[in-house]
Amino acid sequence: MSKSVSGIFETVFGAAPELCAFAPGRVNLIGEHTDYNGGRVFPCALGMGISCAARARDDRSLRFYSANFPNKGVTALSLDRLETCGSWADYPIAVIKAFKGFGYEPERGADFAFLGDLPDGAGLSSSAALEVLTGLVISALYGFKMTAQELAVLGQFAENRFIGVNCGIMDQFASAMGRENSAILLDSLTLSYKYAPVPEEAALVIINSGVKHSLASSAYNDRRRECETALADINTAIKAPSLCSLAPDQFERYKDAIKSPVCQRRAKHAVYENARAYLAAQALESGDLNSFGELMMSSHISLRDDYEVSCAELDFLAEAAWSAEGVYGARMTGGGFGGCTVNLVKKDYANAFIKTITKKYRDRFGTEAAAYRVKIGGGARLL
Ligand code: GLA
Repeated sequence: MSKSVSGIFETVFGAAPELCAFAPGRVNLIGEHTDYNGGRVFPCALGMGISCAARARDDRSLRFYSANFPNKGVTALSLDRLETCGSWADYPIAVIKAFKGFGYEPERGADFAFLGDLPDGAGLSSSAALEVLTGLVISALYGFKMTAQELAVLGQFAENRFIGVNCGIMDQFASAMGRENSAILLDSLTLSYKYAPVPEEAALVIINSGVKHSLASSAYNDRRRECETALADINTAIKAPSLCSLAPDQFERYKDAIKSPVCQRRAKHAVYENARAYLAAQALESGDLNSFGELMMSSHISLRDDYEVSCAELDFLAEAAWSAEGVYGARMTGGGFGGCTVNLVKKDYANAFIKTITKKYRDRFGTEAAAYRVKIGGGARLL
């Protein structure tokens, strides 16, 4: 991909780029909506992602072009007037604004060309990939000494502050810190993490419902607020720094302190999902893929019934997978309200599974569900 992104750069900006870089998307195996509740997540970086070719300029202009949005043309602005403009370019712009808060300020501008193979709005973190990638490219162009982990935090800060989505750290962390063939068990509170190899006999299949999660940002922020209310309420009964600091039995004992039934269900999801992520990591470590699969199913049911972030299409895909041959487990993945399911499938069954489930989907909804048998890739890197 790097060759073609540099070719695109030359065509658009009339000179060769100075450097090329890549940042992957992510899929989360389990531990959903826990990362802003002080809990665990268990994502993998994908082989799919976004590439960037870039070159520093002598003046203070910034120019952005994406081969994925060719009709938007080149977005141009000055470092002296860094304002978001309601397009895809808001993500790199937000990151450049965010550098200030990390003690760095680019003094000169740059030209950027992007090219990605992540489906847009599918919940595979194209935004986080774009953020981490911009951070990496800017650091490399200007010699800023940022670690991969700092680039993840920078990306999250940019998204919270300048895009207005109050997301947790999972997506940016997975994109920055991914490792080939491994999932990352991350404690979102301390940012301590460990890699867990995904056994050879398991294939990861992502099925894209094609439902764009466009409502997601406002509903996401609502969920986050509901969790905050639940936490404040439960703190009248037991001192808990975060919802995920509570074990399920503690939660059961004190849950009635949460006044609103909706907030109580949101909190229940967070607490139990955090416990499931822990058990899932143990199951993976001991090669018990059947238990891992069962935890994935419970996770989906909880996201559907208690957290209410699924939709008819995702429920259909998950349920169809649960009864398909050779499937360990399946669930919706990411923020929800559309996007994808993640399926853990016996390797030899993966192709047949894809055929069956996409046919069922077509028969039921009359539209195509794209399927990707994904490689778990490494984190963001210069090419
Ligand atoms: C989005 C956010 C993440 C995380 C997930 C849900 O992807 O960006 O921080 O909260 O939703 O698990």
